[in-house]
Amino acid sequence: MNETRRRVLDALSDGPMSGPELAERLDVSRAAVWKHVEELRDEAFEIASTDDGYELVGVPEFGGAAVEFGLDAPFDVEYHDAVGSTNDRARELAEAGREDVAVLADEQTGGRGRLDREWAAPSGGIWLSVLTRPDVPPTHAPLFTLAAAVAVTRAAREAGVPAEIKWPNDVLVPADDADAPVGGRKLVGILTEMEGEADRVSWVVVGIGINANVDVSDLVSGATSLRAEGGDVDRRLFTQRVLEEFHALTNDLDSVLPAWREYASTLGQRVRVETPSGAVVGEAVDVTFPGALVVETDDGQVTVTAGDCDHLRPV
Ligand code: BTN
Repeated sequence: MNETRRRVLDALSDGPMSGPELAERLDVSRAAVWKHVEELRDEAFEIASTDDGYELVGVPEFGGAAVEFGLDAPFDVEYHDAVGSTNDRARELAEAGREDVAVLADEQTGGRGRLDREWAAPSGGIWLSVLTRPDVPPTHAPLFTLAAAVAVTRAAREAGVPAEIKWPNDVLVPADDADAPVGGRKLVGILTEMEGEADRVSWVVVGIGINANVDVSDLVSGATSLRAEGGDVDRRLFTQRVLEEFHALTNDLDSVLPAWREYASTLGQRVRVETPSGAVVGEAVDVTFPGALVVETDDGQVTVTAGDCDHLRPV
């Protein structure tokens, strides 16, 4: 959002203010104030002209400016009604030298999941990719995935949905009906992509797919949505919470693993992890830096850094 428009909104969030007062506070002309107010109205901010001056009476339901308004994290938000993949768009922005941008879409037409799978992303979801340039070595990148999982889990719990994290990056809602996958139904998927040198990350894009206000019939089998679990959410506030938590966690990387452990459903479970060098089966006993799963197998402890993890029914 344009800096002056951001300052107009900041000023109006404290209550009504006249054009001349705004002009003085922002050190711009009254004509400029009027122009910025008109542009905010075009972006669906409801700004009434009252006897006390301009009054902010409504914020748009969703969109870039809506999410940036009141956001306690330093991201520019680029919004699309529809886009191929928010991760692809964030990668383009990375190539163009940008940082601290969140690409947000109502719908994706070419959403991508892990392992080259498709990701269903109908209208009503929160399809979000966060581009940052952290000053860390590439080995720390998995922490960004775990941080995103923690951030969404917290936001979901605040919305009354008892989300849990399945290693490494699926956010699930427990379900015990016969049709449900072991471990629960998938609410959120995370796809992290990065580029860097041997010792330093150049950029990281963390793609977060949140099945928010969507019907389960529009998702793949085994998935669920916030709508199905507790009802529609305010996507603007939900997205803000995710971005704020993600920012706080990734700026304090030591806090990520303890927070992840708090919400993990995988620890203590029998698991089967498909890794490039074969399947690892046993009890998941810990997660260690930077996000590796420790599995107690019949042949001793095995530490798995990447793979597809299934929770198994107890034997
Ligand atoms: C998974 O396979 O579980 C990861 C799914 C990641 C989906 C999200 S939606 C936002 C971002 N854009 C994409 O194309 N993918 C990620």
